[in-house]
Amino acid sequence: MKTVFSGIQPTGKVHLGNFLGAIKNWVHLSNVENKNFFCVVDLHSITTHPDPMELKSNIEQTLKLLIAAGINLDNSIIYAQSSVPQHAYLSWILSSFCQVGELQRMTQYKEKADSLGSHAGIFTYPVLMASDILIHKANEVPVGDDQTQHLELTRNIAERFNNKYGDVFPLPEKSSGKSGARLMSLKHPDSKMSKSSDDINGTIYFDDDKDTIMKKFKSSVTDSDDIIQYNLSEKKGISNLIDIYASINGMSHKEVEKTFMDSRYGEFKMAVGECVAEYLNPINLKFIELEKENISEIVKINLQEAQASAELTIQEVNNILGL
Ligand code: AMP
Ligand code: TRP
Repeated sequence: MKTVFSGIQPTGKVHLGNFLGAIKNWVHLSNVENKNFFCVVDLHSITTHPDPMELKSNIEQTLKLLIAAGINLDNSIIYAQSSVPQHAYLSWILSSFCQVGELQRMTQYKEKADSLGSHAGIFTYPVLMASDILIHKANEVPVGDDQTQHLELTRNIAERFNNKYGDVFPLPEKSSGKSGARLMSLKHPDSKMSKSSDDINGTIYFDDDKDTIMKKFKSSVTDSDDIIQYNLSEKKGISNLIDIYASINGMSHKEVEKTFMDSRYGEFKMAVGECVAEYLNPINLKFIELEKENISEIVKINLQEAQASAELTIQEVNNILGL
């Protein structure tokens, strides 16, 4: 049985990129025989200095959204990272198995240092991410393409630890869907769709209503060829729309091209908007239902399991290190 781990930050609103790049795969993995940990990585989000009240409510919202998205809790554990202090403890230990040069090469660090100022938190962010994954000895990490570099670093850290102390950590593999692994902004197809995007019309949020979704797709930026063809170097905008349609409908890019061979951009944009609205609507309805519910019992049970699993690893690591 595989152990799966993945995380999402409770900053801002969950968007379509989060769904197609990550959560959609989590739902799938939670319905096959794996042991799954899906974590709201609130300690990571401290790097952005969020408002405390907002953070508290975002943590709970994100947990509820994971349930609303359809994660099967029979074989998945969902929890907030800060409730399991072992993550941060392991992070300290693993920082001695990570080179400063490696952290300096992280693209996400360079990008974030520009916008957030280069404090040590965003610098060591990937070490905490490695400990998230290794604390449960995960073999598989379903994430979007923006996390590839962090995953490689995690493997390097694990390998270095193992070389010195024996086979403690499995080397985790990244997994992504064939499409949807890197959604771009609908307004600026050169940059990825993100929570902090400065143009909210480029991002589809999970609770956008159908009208808003249709408007955002209608005004999405494309070229003027009017040929629906996947070409990442020359037709970024339309390729992004093909990718979204393919991911939601479980089709290849070629199949989407074939289906819309005789369509014009206007028509295709509407078809993509329709399928996105259809995909998000039930999740949003379920979320609204859950918003009124108290999930503290679910949270408690999940947390106990997460803590027990993390503690096992810490005990083992402490023994090995002579602590
Ligand atoms: P974050 O919102 O940065 O915590 O990301 C949570 C998950 O969503 C990670 O697995 C990311 O790789 C994934 N993700 C974030 N933005 C995108 C995007 N634009 N396209 C695909 N996946 C994404
Ligand atoms: N760094 C990830 C992001 O920005 C979030 C994250 C933190 C994560 N820890 C993780 C993802 C562990 C996968 C596994 O999206």
